[in-house]
Amino acid sequence: MNELDCIINHPEGLGGDIPGRSAFEEPGIGAFHRSLPGRAPTPLIEAAGIAAELGLGKVYIKDEARRCDVKAFKILGASWAVHRLLREEPGIATFATATDGNHGMALATAARLHARRAVVFMPRGTAKARVERIRATGAVVEVLEVDYDETVRHAAATAEREGWTLVQDTAWPGYEVVPAMIQAGYLTLFREVAEQLGAFGGDPGIDLVLLPVGVGSLAAAGVWFHHHSYGDRRPRLVAVEPRNAGCLAASLAAGEPRSVAAPGTLMAGLNCGTVSSIAWPLLRDGLDGALLLDDDAVPPAMRRYANLEPAVVSGESGAAGLAALTELLTSTALEPLRRHLRLRPDSRALVLNTEGDTDPATYRRLVEGVFEG
Ligand SMILES: Cc1ncc(COP(=O)(O)O)c(C=O)c1O
Repeated sequence: MNELDCIINHPEGLGGDIPGRSAFEEPGIGAFHRSLPGRAPTPLIEAAGIAAELGLGKVYIKDEARRCDVKAFKILGASWAVHRLLREEPGIATFATATDGNHGMALATAARLHARRAVVFMPRGTAKARVERIRATGAVVEVLEVDYDETVRHAAATAEREGWTLVQDTAWPGYEVVPAMIQAGYLTLFREVAEQLGAFGGDPGIDLVLLPVGVGSLAAAGVWFHHHSYGDRRPRLVAVEPRNAGCLAASLAAGEPRSVAAPGTLMAGLNCGTVSSIAWPLLRDGLDGALLLDDDAVPPAMRRYANLEPAVVSGESGAAGLAALTELLTSTALEPLRRHLRLRPDSRALVLNTEGDTDPATYRRLVEGVFEG
């Protein structure tokens, strides 16, 4: 690890009021997710060994690698949005999106469940395995020679021209309804954790949550859930971004949304240059801090997951939370953030393993040292 920068958000204490209530309060999301194939809640694992190594009371891992056979949490958002859209407009024939991988896989899977067509655009440098996974669902996949932000613009323009329905997991002024559905769908993950901890209403059972950020939709759902469920007893909430795609950190530092160049990171699912416009106010007001993570912190976290008993399979983006927690607890440079978060030897932390081995060759190379030709 070279260096790890962080932002202390609201240094004076807890953040302000959290907007965006109505978009999240749709009934029926949990029941809908329980109706999906492979619907069981993903496991919440207590990793006592990691807690001991890091000097924490407890470390919990929510293992989204085992979500509905798609190896990532993203199906929670895309499936709910597709369901909602078809309820309003059953005649939709084609859904389209841009993706770094997991959202596209989720949308293609949801479209197939409803016997609809999916068209998925992916940015340059996308791992072949991630393209093939999505194609295997029957979706049309096109890999472009541009970065993620430009791919999103291309998907939106093409969908508009062709009369397809765009299901994008990030919002911008004028395109906010569908991303709000997706963000709301992600709440199921946090509700499951609360149920698994037996923690609804009173003591949240955790003191710290690490929230990985690409465009910030998942983190915004996490912020909303914890603020509204627990008020000032809520856990501290910290965003995690790749150093090379720190659009949220740049925005928090500036006090307003800022796009950044995202030249590439191992954490492909987090390689986004612009924060979702509906996530931004929640993240600005509700986060306690943000970390920028270097790529080289990730493989050790993937290996630590693999060494758990039983093993947890964690892909490059999936392991960002554990990598960040490790840095947070071990880096002297992060002492101010540690203090701000009031971490103590009995603190209980939650990390999300947001993705399994969605690029198996890279996984084997980083975790097992196996190089394939
Ligand atoms: C594995 C993984 N983790 C985390 C995220 C971050 O989610 P969001 O883009 O909503 O911030 C993504 C997004 O694609 C992802 O694929």
